Amino acid sequence: MRPTEPGPSSRGLATRTPELRLRPSVRLVAVRDRWKRSALARAAHGWLGRAANRWLAGALRGAARSSIGGLLRRTNERGQPNINELWMVAKDIDILRSDVKNFGYEMARQLSEQGGLARKVPSEPPRAGLRSQATTQADLESEWAAYWCDRLKIRPIYNRKIWEFCYVLQALRERVPGFLTGGSRGIGFVCGQEPLPSLLAQLGHELVVTDLPLEDSIGRGWVETGQHLSRADLAFHASLVDRPTFDQRVSVRHMDMNHVEGDLDGQFDFCWSICALEHLGSIAQGLDFIENSARVLRPGGTAVHTTEFNYGDEDETIDDWPVVLFQRRHFEQIARRLEGQGLSVAPLDFDVGSAPMDRFVDVPPYPPQGQARHLKLAIDGFRCTCFGLIFSRPR
Ligand SMILES: C[S@@+](CC[C@H](N)C(=O)[O-])C[C@H]1O[C@@H](n2cnc3c(N)ncnc32)[C@H](O)[C@@H]1O
Repeated sequence: MRPTEPGPSSRGLATRTPELRLRPSVRLVAVRDRWKRSALARAAHGWLGRAANRWLAGALRGAARSSIGGLLRRTNERGQPNINELWMVAKDIDILRSDVKNFGYEMARQLSEQGGLARKVPSEPPRAGLRSQATTQADLESEWAAYWCDRLKIRPIYNRKIWEFCYVLQALRERVPGFLTGGSRGIGFVCGQEPLPSLLAQLGHELVVTDLPLEDSIGRGWVETGQHLSRADLAFHASLVDRPTFDQRVSVRHMDMNHVEGDLDGQFDFCWSICALEHLGSIAQGLDFIENSARVLRPGGTAVHTTEFNYGDEDETIDDWPVVLFQRRHFEQIARRLEGQGLSVAPLDFDVGSAPMDRFVDVPPYPPQGQARHLKLAIDGFRCTCFGLIFSRPR
């Protein structure tokens, strides 16, 4: 007879297994507590005490890991279902994960084929009155996105990095006078291998593009994954601009975004950053960067920044970490700070959309950046998308 799924009536059986398996860590906790209370521990206050504490902490972590690993095996040593409460919650997660990804990616493919992204490309990007706003399916299906994908020679897909490129360009087009014909000066903070500097140079703008000094980036994954701008070459896209024009109009500067250097103040008609300010160490540092970036603007200048937006939780978020997640209250807070300095912030719009691709929240593991077909995704368990903030210095 096939064993039946454990139901509420088997709760007694289900709870016995975790107790048994967790016994080693309970024993270790008791050893640690006895050690902490002992006179020897107080006496050995120096390195010996610290080394013993480190060993006990490591042993505790190892014991917890192995007991949890045992709980999460699908079968026991006899090949029977590994019935316990954690298994009941977790047993189907991998299957659900692949179902979600398969259906979501298939939906993205079908929507593209049905023409969602195949808009007629207008000869000029129509004004959309962009707000400070989140990534949506409607934006990616707009005529302005079609125009900028065409200019960037990118095949439109439901991918939030493409939204970021188009959003920044459209925001600048709407706020920088003569943007389509060039003649302005801009600075791109941490451009990596973005195509924007090449297109902007081709449009006729003069640009400074920045990134962390190389020695500060090595070992943090940016260089290894091709996201660091070590040399101007990496920002050069031959399909968008010729080399002499690029060399003449684009210069690279290495700088930490946590210290926007004073000689840049008041030098630029526009500045932008994409997917960068969430990497500065904390939410406070990200917000400080936004405020400091305003200093580089001339009167009439415009800033556009895109970053991570945790739209699914207004209380809890990730802070003090290599990737932090901003919430609505943080954008409201920085908007108040900028307005307090006389800057004009494009109205904040936190609508994340309700079209199918807005409701599909992808889950890890994610494909390489350019191949993802999602606009919303789980980061550390939080529902996230991108948010773009636009502000200008009055003339
Ligand atoms: C995800 S990449 C984004 C690159 C590019 N904007 C893009 O969208 O492809 C993040 C970048 O932030 C840079 N970075 C991280 N911390 C930084 C800091 N404190 N100052 C300047 N750049 C930093 C890294 O070197 C990396 O190039």
